[in-house]
Amino acid sequence: MKITVIGLGYLGATHAVAMAKLGHEVIGIEPDDAKRESLAKGELPFYEPGLDKALVEVIKQGNIDFKRSHDEGSKAAELHFICVGTPQKIGSNEADTKYLFSAIEGLAPQLSEDSVVVGKSTVPVGTAADLTAYLANLTGFEPKLAWNPEFLREGTALEDSLNPDRIVIGTEDDFAEQKIREVYKPITDQYNTPILITDIPTSELVKAAANSFLATKISFINAMAEIAEVSGADTVKLAEAIGMDERIGKQFLRNGIGFGGGCLPKDIRGLIARAEQLGVGQAVGFLTEVDEINLRRRSRVTELAVNELDDPKGKKIAVLGAAFKPDSDDLRDSPALSIALELANKEAQVFIHDPEAYEQLSKNQPTLHAREDISEVLKDAELVILGTEWKQYKALDPAKLSVKNKTMIDGRNVLNREAWEKAGWKLISLGRG
Ligand code: UGA
Repeated sequence: MKITVIGLGYLGATHAVAMAKLGHEVIGIEPDDAKRESLAKGELPFYEPGLDKALVEVIKQGNIDFKRSHDEGSKAAELHFICVGTPQKIGSNEADTKYLFSAIEGLAPQLSEDSVVVGKSTVPVGTAADLTAYLANLTGFEPKLAWNPEFLREGTALEDSLNPDRIVIGTEDDFAEQKIREVYKPITDQYNTPILITDIPTSELVKAAANSFLATKISFINAMAEIAEVSGADTVKLAEAIGMDERIGKQFLRNGIGFGGGCLPKDIRGLIARAEQLGVGQAVGFLTEVDEINLRRRSRVTELAVNELDDPKGKKIAVLGAAFKPDSDDLRDSPALSIALELANKEAQVFIHDPEAYEQLSKNQPTLHAREDISEVLKDAELVILGTEWKQYKALDPAKLSVKNKTMIDGRNVLNREAWEKAGWKLISLGRG
């Protein structure tokens, strides 16, 4: 099928490559010249394992083209996927939907009555109805607009797109449903992926609800960590024990410095704001608590660091990891980076290492000392903080590390306590007595 993918950030670039890999003819629309030109050269503007190779492959196959704006090619497309960002508005919990409306404005002249517009961005419930009215006004006919939320995770984005747990399609239009089923047919044929057809508001809410549930699980276990820290209990064992109950499940019960990234924090806040606008703010009042528990974990690490160092002023602290999770170079709302910045704010000399985010750190974080070489970060450090559980940090040999003080705060509970203590380290874990 001929399709367009509008907006080539994380979601759009992954979706465009995935669709091209399935054999569709894809036009990617991205007004940001640097991003588009980089993609057209076969270079991903962010780190995502496997997606780089797949991009080169689909360019070679001729299945993908990149354009600054729509042209005749878009007119011939049957499906248009809207993948633009919906960031949190500055000074508010609300998601900013302005990029959706400008994407719709650019797309409107290309549409005919048979074109299907499919939103994939995460949106406040009710947005699709506003977009449909806006689009109808621009085109003069009733547009076919459906919502099809995306559940991919950074780090495994391509795999998640090509083999998702489920495909949710919000539409009441049979033609739109058939077209969307057709575009995903190679996936559903291969993996027997369940397709859920819903009304549009449900499909919009599914995504906010899924991310809010995941965030709640993480904050729940981090709340238990707060209790464990004052009662001598071990949260890692606790999570193992409750996770064995299939009704609870063991995933997303890893306690530590909490969740970050471009999705979970903004999506719980967006749901709080939307529920308030709809007059049912109380229904998700608990999400404010989820957010606060999450942010308290970052303060807890700063507090532990200050306790260890007395006064952190002028002392060297090594922070291992800056990205919000391993296998990503995404620094948005990253707990590791936020702790590093807070300690730099207290005038510590914060040296930071990340396997993929070095360039961004050295360009954008002048208060931190970013180094490519981990031994330069560790040398003479009076405290080490593990902020992102990259596999290379988990594999470190504690006996071979050269620091000033062998004190480590394991922000992700991934280090083997026995091995580190045997090598003479004081290992401070979160939520473990
Ligand atoms: C999240 C969702 O998992 C995806 O399903 C969704 O599609 C995506 O947001 C999105 O909205 O686009 P992602 O942000 O890539 O995906 O990352 P997650 O794997 O959900 O991790 C989020 C954060 O939670 C990370 O900082 C991670 O370190 C933390 N986390 C995760 C924990 O602290 N404990 C856990 O047990 C699991």
